[in-house]
Amino acid sequence: MIETVDLTKKYGEFVAVNHLNLHVKSGEIYGFLGPNGAGKTTTIRMLTGLLQPTSGKVFIDGINMEEEPIKAKARIGLIPDTPSVYPKLTGNEFLNFIAAIYEIPPEESVHKVKEILEMLELSHKADELIETYSHGMKQKIVIAAALLHDPSVLILDEPTVGLDPKSAKLIKDLLRVYASRGKTVFMSTHILEIAERMCDRVGIINHGTLIAEGTIEELRRRVGEGEGTLEDLFLKLTGGEDTKDLLKFLED
Ligand SMILES: Nc1ncnc2c1ncn2[C@@H]1O[C@H](COP(=O)(O)OP(=O)(O)O)[C@@H](O)[C@H]1O
Ligand SMILES: [Mg+2]
Repeated sequence: MIETVDLTKKYGEFVAVNHLNLHVKSGEIYGFLGPNGAGKTTTIRMLTGLLQPTSGKVFIDGINMEEEPIKAKARIGLIPDTPSVYPKLTGNEFLNFIAAIYEIPPEESVHKVKEILEMLELSHKADELIETYSHGMKQKIVIAAALLHDPSVLILDEPTVGLDPKSAKLIKDLLRVYASRGKTVFMSTHILEIAERMCDRVGIINHGTLIAEGTIEELRRRVGEGEGTLEDLFLKLTGGEDTKDLLKFLED
């Protein structure tokens, strides 16, 4: 479970994240939806203890990130927006290295690594250097690394960017299985359709402020009778009138 209390980040005078209050339950896939520059990555970096908030608090499974960072971070699996891999390691070597960092005993990690490579359909590449992997395969090996220690909170920053449809579907299914095991999934995206298809509940962030939150159904109801689609709401809320015109133009 993830909780933030008035979480705020300023860069100088610029407010990147503004008094954010989130409550994401276990078993839930939460979509953090907003246009580019809205503050998604900044929020995720604070949730994961990589960036110090200007003010406010982060709790992971009730553990205060500021007071017990190692304990809180041990509960998290992070898939960052620009993941770094070690190109000169094989998939197997990389995952065993990560397992060692998380202090998973070797006899256990051998089994875990094998299982996870199978699940992500990477077994055939296990003994090849990561530099030979496609973009989608690299993304999957990063996901495997994030899942190795069986975190109770999985955080993904724009996970589907650059993924082929098959890999995107695989990730979608995997997140669903993960959440059904009582884990918390928090995922950022700037694409409404992805939030719609993958998430139980969505929060919309714009200019650092959470401006709407609810299930897709609830948000849809908010749009009201005949007032347009969820896309219209999203664009209206995020002030994307230009984008809307562009979309209309493309549809015509
Ligand atoms: N290190 C930084 N210094 C100054 N401004 C930053 C820094 N990181 C991000 N920003 C600004 O904060 C805002 C939010 O950025 P970010 O969290 O990356 O947005 P998103 O992930 O939603 O696209 C943007 O306007 C961005 O330019
Ligand atoms: Mg981002």
